Amino acid sequence: MKKAIIIGGTSGIGRGLAEELVKRNWIVGITGRRKELLHEIKSNSPNQIFTLEHDITELESSDEKMNRLFNELKTVDLVIVSSGQADINHKLDWAIEKKVIEVNINGIAKVYEFIFSKFKEQGYGHLVGISSIAAIRGNRHCPSYSAAKAFQSNYLEALRGMSKKRNLKIKVTDVQPGFVDTAMAKGEGMFWVAPVDKAVRQIYAGINKGKRKIYITKRWRLIAWLMKILPSWIYEKI
Ligand SMILES: NC(=O)c1ccc[n+]([C@@H]2O[C@H](COP(=O)([O-])OP(=O)(O)OC[C@H]3O[C@@H](n4cnc5c(N)ncnc54)[C@H](OP(=O)(O)O)[C@@H]3O)[C@@H](O)[C@H]2O)c1
Repeated sequence: MKKAIIIGGTSGIGRGLAEELVKRNWIVGITGRRKELLHEIKSNSPNQIFTLEHDITELESSDEKMNRLFNELKTVDLVIVSSGQADINHKLDWAIEKKVIEVNINGIAKVYEFIFSKFKEQGYGHLVGISSIAAIRGNRHCPSYSAAKAFQSNYLEALRGMSKKRNLKIKVTDVQPGFVDTAMAKGEGMFWVAPVDKAVRQIYAGINKGKRKIYITKRWRLIAWLMKILPSWIYEKI
């Protein structure tokens, strides 16, 4: 039986992926801060699910906690890092910026570093990070979020390069969703909002193919391309 860990598996995309993997007979470790949701998810498939209460911003205890879950599972084929914080911040409120930076940069970097080191020790593994289409350009609605997602995407690319150069058997995938219908998706002007089950199906298929980058849904590849080529003087007016 294959084994996976979902960091941030209590709701939304992470929870959907956990449930998909369980359906496909994987053993799954899920983490998150909300204890009651961890209990609820475990109670649906007690033999296949392991849980860990884990706040990724608690940097001092983060490695020790993730290590506990790794030890319970013994070997881990796949880790999907879905944890994230987002908020619209037109007033550039520092409390919001700080929270987003603490989770999406400090917390996530600690998790990526730990997982990559564990996979090196183990000799193989597949690390999947869920960044965002927002990683491509600065977004005036949520400055720290778009900047943090660029950080995640670049970090994942750097880890992929490290793995390749050292001939490690570690795959790294960057998932860039557009909009997915979860509690996080808020604000005006959303379009092409994907249901969670569709996003999950496409992410699972992309992981199986060992893709470097997965756009969710697939047609967001077109938006990604447009965002990359659009001149700043047009982009700034949108
Ligand atoms: N929905 C979209 O439209 C969209 C678009 C692009 C990218 N994304 C990305 O997709 C990922 C999943 O988001 P989602 O849409 O599924 O939203 P969600 O339902 O709000 O899920 C967010 C997950 O992050 C976890 N999390 C938040 N803060 C955490 C912390 N300090 N420590 C550990 N875990 C933490 C939450 O668990 P607890 O609260 O239990 O800790 C939850 O499981 C995020 O990285 C997000 O940026 C989403």
